[in-house]
Amino acid sequence: MMRFPAVFRREQVANMKIQPIGGQTVDDRDNATPSAPVSPLQLYGIRYIEFLRQLHVHLAPDSYFEIGADLGESLACAECDTIVVDPAFRVQGNAAGGRRQTFFFQMTSDAFFRSNDVRNYFPKGIDLAFLDGMHRIEYLLRDFINTEAASHNRSLILLHDCLPLNSRMARRNFTLGDTDEGELAHSWTGDVWKIIPILKEYRPDLRVHVLDCPPTGLVAVSRLDPSSTALSGAYHEILDKFGDCSLDSYGLQRLWGEHRLVDSRSLVDLPEKLTALFSVI
Ligand SMILES: C[S@@+](CC[C@H](N)C(=O)[O-])C[C@H]1O[C@@H](n2cnc3c(N)ncnc32)[C@H](O)[C@@H]1O
Repeated sequence: MMRFPAVFRREQVANMKIQPIGGQTVDDRDNATPSAPVSPLQLYGIRYIEFLRQLHVHLAPDSYFEIGADLGESLACAECDTIVVDPAFRVQGNAAGGRRQTFFFQMTSDAFFRSNDVRNYFPKGIDLAFLDGMHRIEYLLRDFINTEAASHNRSLILLHDCLPLNSRMARRNFTLGDTDEGELAHSWTGDVWKIIPILKEYRPDLRVHVLDCPPTGLVAVSRLDPSSTALSGAYHEILDKFGDCSLDSYGLQRLWGEHRLVDSRSLVDLPEKLTALFSVI
């Protein structure tokens, strides 16, 4: 999300009239007005930054690749050799951290992939990647295709902001929410949520876990195939099909209900489960 929201507190949700949908809860208001700007959808797991930090600690990747660094919060989780790409770095504090090597590319991810070969830096391929750049589906789709091609079959690719809390924040262009959204009014996930149904339809060979990490979810993709052309070959077909689809028409409840959310707290409490699920080496 482009700005951290103050999502609904647990007791606020408890006061709402709710019904179970796919393991989550959805307010009746949402059934009546699917495009209502306020949503009681809430994630109760570990905040995505903390979960990312735990992944670095327990998976101990040798190489990390990040698209979209902004202030450097996610970058700071990495302790291994790192490539980071952002057209406008605003990293605060010690940008190089304790890492042996950090390669900064101040350019868009498309420009990066056009002019660089990741394997020149990481000959064995990327172990762990976090894609959090431009929040429009065509960008994330290209970022995913290019990152997978530079990965190996035990790599893990993380995708951010794919579980919007309402349809307003999932619009392709940022629009400020109403005052009843509170601080959520400034949050924008864009339409990267579409990557979940896209991967499900076009890459059933991948293993996709949707984690309950606030504020707006973390998707972990494994069993990668760097030689796959399923997405690149269908790139235009995919965008014809999903590009103009809004979350209002797809359905917020449907998106949330299509996947069983993985409990991030139980994974962090039992690191052996975490490594069994996501081991990268
Ligand atoms: C949500 S912020 C990243 C936040 C960071 N990953 C974190 O969790 O702390 C998104 C970043 O993507 C960058 N960005 C925008 N368009 C991009 C593009 N085409 N390629 C790569 N990065 C892009 C922006 O400059 C911004 O810094």
